[in-house]
Amino acid sequence: MAKLIDGKAVSAQIKEELKETVAKKKQQGITISLAVIQVGNDPASSVYVNNKKKACEYIGIQSIAYELPEETTQEELLSMIDDLNGRDDVNGILVQLPLPGHIDEDKIINRISPDKDVDGFHPQSVGALCIGQPGFVSCTPAGIIALLKRNHIEIEGKECVVIGRSNIVGKPMALLMLRENATVTVAHSRTKDLKEICKRADILIVAIGKPKFITEEYIKEGAVVIDVGIHRNENNKLCGDVDFASVEPHCSAITPVPGGVGPMTIAMLMNNCVESVKQ
Ligand code: GUN
Repeated sequence: MAKLIDGKAVSAQIKEELKETVAKKKQQGITISLAVIQVGNDPASSVYVNNKKKACEYIGIQSIAYELPEETTQEELLSMIDDLNGRDDVNGILVQLPLPGHIDEDKIINRISPDKDVDGFHPQSVGALCIGQPGFVSCTPAGIIALLKRNHIEIEGKECVVIGRSNIVGKPMALLMLRENATVTVAHSRTKDLKEICKRADILIVAIGKPKFITEEYIKEGAVVIDVGIHRNENNKLCGDVDFASVEPHCSAITPVPGGVGPMTIAMLMNNCVESVKQ
């Protein structure tokens, strides 16, 4: 039986550690605050934003919520970011994505000061990661590294295949695994012989966005499998990009969905907020 990589437990542990750090900082008179901006009221975004606010409250980080109407203009949002960039009492700025179609997401991300870019989406943050300099790292890939390390899964020298090349998950994930001295292959929708490539992986990280796509045919015996996907199946139950029942008997360790990668994203966001006062 494969070991279940318990993201809920690791996330809870990280949040406890951060809570202690934040309490110590408070004693030194240092407070941490995160501005969370949501434009419009997409229900999924509202759930994510609420979870972020709750995590802040638990850890002792002040969250300043901005719920802006769908009609907010790009100029208005840019000017709000300028204002938050200049405020000494705001350490982190998070603009929940996706934004309404009339707003250019890249323009918004580029306007956030890299010193307050707790999502790690700014080109300067991504560039710093690429060349091994300090900067904020995108939360989901950073969470996966924390999950592997805290479960004592060795990365150095391992064959790692990342499926997916998004700016938020696939690309930073590949860079982080490279930084940990894995041999990294990035596969994507145009990759030929995906099964053969995945079968080389000691560590397979799946961010393909298709429910239960990865079956046992893609797995090397004893591999570690990390599932970034989250979907609702035909019975309204949550499932990942990996067909868990098919894959689990063939791997040494695997993340469940829910309770694997998902809880780590918020834990790492909180970690970035705490780091933001050190920077
Ligand atoms: N939308 C979905 N995931 C994220 C995230 O990690 N950060 C932001 N800002 N928006 C998101």
